[in-house]
Amino acid sequence: MRTLILDAISELEPAVATAAAILRGGGLVAFPTETVYGLGGLGLNADAVERIFFAKGRPSTDPLILHVASPNWVRDLTLGIPPVAVQLMEQFWPGPLTLVLPCSAVVPDGVTAGLDSVAVRMPAHPVALAVIRALDAPLAGPSANLFGHVSPTTAAHVMADLDGRIDAVLDAGPTEYGVESTVLDVRGTSPVILRPGGITMQQLAEAIGSPVLLRHDSADEAKPQVGPGLLTRHYSPRAEVRLYHGTNPASILRRMIADAQTLPPRAVVLALSEDLPVLAQHGIQAWDLGSRAHLASAARCLYDYLRKADQQGAPVILVSAVPDTGIGAAINDRLRRAASGRILRVH
Ligand code: TXA
Ligand code: MG
Repeated sequence: MRTLILDAISELEPAVATAAAILRGGGLVAFPTETVYGLGGLGLNADAVERIFFAKGRPSTDPLILHVASPNWVRDLTLGIPPVAVQLMEQFWPGPLTLVLPCSAVVPDGVTAGLDSVAVRMPAHPVALAVIRALDAPLAGPSANLFGHVSPTTAAHVMADLDGRIDAVLDAGPTEYGVESTVLDVRGTSPVILRPGGITMQQLAEAIGSPVLLRHDSADEAKPQVGPGLLTRHYSPRAEVRLYHGTNPASILRRMIADAQTLPPRAVVLALSEDLPVLAQHGIQAWDLGSRAHLASAARCLYDYLRKADQQGAPVILVSAVPDTGIGAAINDRLRRAASGRILRVH
């Protein structure tokens, strides 16, 4: 199969029309969202859904998100929408918030992996919305990477993983957030974050006026998982990621510098802008994640850096956990997974 690259920047209308035609025929088209690129297929068509799993090499036990073009579409997909979900949709849609709701019978088992819940979100990207509106039907869309690999934030990333495995990719340039949506289970008495992402815990708590729980990973990966984002080894580059964590930034930096001196060639150090001068004084040219005061920059470039490190054959990536507030929680979550849960605690 030849994978078409559809230019959604300078030829938006024909690109969207071609994408919609391919999707209507049961084909697969990767599409930009405000978070990462998704691998789209007709969400209510069991054959298209099966093709998505095949193209990604994803086990069929991992449920998919249905992308909709309006909150009104959610009613048909679910058995009931709790008031808190209505409120969150009003406040955060379109945007990087995925809601897990009780599933109705119209949703194929392939989408939900046989669970009795379905994940839905309305993306904020105009190209994604244009395609979904043209289809007039929900678009199933996991991140458009091979299973277990880092999510794509550009069309080039999508092609690196899926060229020849999907019909087309809509290229609209780099994505805005760089990390995936927040997945929030709103079925219980208090909402539970299953995956931290673009909408922060603080934003959610403020919106509903009460604390929001964060589901922690089970230490035992053999237990059944709710979804792939919950596997500890996920979002992984090939390089070994050494993740430093501690309360004292100065001692973390000292430890990283000491370790970096013994690194093999082509190893990569990722660091916040504030730490670059000290690293440079010790002869370490780190890749800039942006300022500690603006962690959105780190989120935006993280996956690109992980892919670039792999491309240049880096055996090891050294990186420190970022402050855990705001989007930092999502960054740290992805760093932990990239490090397969191995964290170097520095005191
Ligand atoms: O930002 C995003 O969410 C991107 C863009 C393309 O929308 N999509 C994405 O999809 O990251 P994916 O398949 O890579 O991750 C979907 C996550 C999984 O980690 C899974 O745990 C969760 O959504 N999920 C899906 N259906 C679920 C369900 N019924 N119950 C609980 N979690 C679910
Ligand atoms: Mg994914």
